[in-house]
Amino acid sequence: MFFELYWHYIATVLLGYLLSRGLYVYLKYGKIKRNVIHNFKTPDEIAEDNEENDNDDVEEDCIPALPKNLKHIPFVYNRLSEEEMKNESDKYFQFMNKRRSVRNFSSDPVPKEVLYNIIKTAGTGPSGAHTEPWTFALITSLNMKQKIKEIIESEEEINYKKRMGKIWTTDLKPFKTNWVKEYLTTAPALILVFKQMYSFRDDGKKKLHYYNEQSVGIATGILISAIHVSGLVSLISTPLNCGPSLRTLLNRPNSEKLIYLLPLGYPADDSTVPDLKRKDLQDIMEEY
Ligand SMILES: Cc1cc2nc3c(=O)[nH]c(=O)nc-3n(C[C@H](O)[C@H](O)[C@H](O)COP(=O)(O)O)c2cc1C
Repeated sequence: MFFELYWHYIATVLLGYLLSRGLYVYLKYGKIKRNVIHNFKTPDEIAEDNEENDNDDVEEDCIPALPKNLKHIPFVYNRLSEEEMKNESDKYFQFMNKRRSVRNFSSDPVPKEVLYNIIKTAGTGPSGAHTEPWTFALITSLNMKQKIKEIIESEEEINYKKRMGKIWTTDLKPFKTNWVKEYLTTAPALILVFKQMYSFRDDGKKKLHYYNEQSVGIATGILISAIHVSGLVSLISTPLNCGPSLRTLLNRPNSEKLIYLLPLGYPADDSTVPDLKRKDLQDIMEEY
């Protein structure tokens, strides 16, 4: 009786609900996809970035983080002849031009001392106001590598199937990559590079880390060249949407954010790499 009398009202309300729900889902997932495609970040990661820029609790007491009267010492410098400069720079280019990202690793272990030297070298990088805003988490235990693999593969499956979209996954096809990442357990070591957005001084005051992401990018470039000069190979990666879970797994503080993850070690005997060509000098340089 009630339905017979009011069916057209009920149908209108139901239709309205379904339409608004459909619009909500369309806007929400459309927004997620646009964020991932254009910013290479998921909404979770964007929220994390916003937290990072919240520095309201920094006290403006104008006491520098380093001693105000920091001593300046003579710079030790050995000037090369022009001939030596040409030779050295060319030799270094030829050497660095042989670096490749490798995706198949041997499980042969690497001496710990080599790993420590590589990380020490990365730590020589320049940083905004010498804040050294980096933590290099070195993982060699199989148990921890397995946990990291689980987190990354489950997120990457969603990334490939839902978040990255058609254009991105199509561009990745020549690399023959997918969400299965055997190297996360076969490589003898993983290095997770965290940027530190801030730290605390000895007096408990918050110390801001200026240009932390740029500094970490430079240090990681140095890390990659240290791996190469040590006769090892690596694969730099930025596991999308895995940062918070990996940070929790490794018990890193909220002031840190995962920027890169690199497996490193020896290449597997049957390793192959995509036949990529690098741009020539005239294509990467504008001379004024
Ligand atoms: C920021 C960044 C993220 C990357 N992420 C991945 C990744 O998730 N998976 C992968 O297989 N390669 C990744 N790569 C490696 C690139 O695919 C590789 O550097 C590029 O194809 C050039 O090859 P090359 O390193 O051998 O010169 C990444 C590289 C960079 C710089």
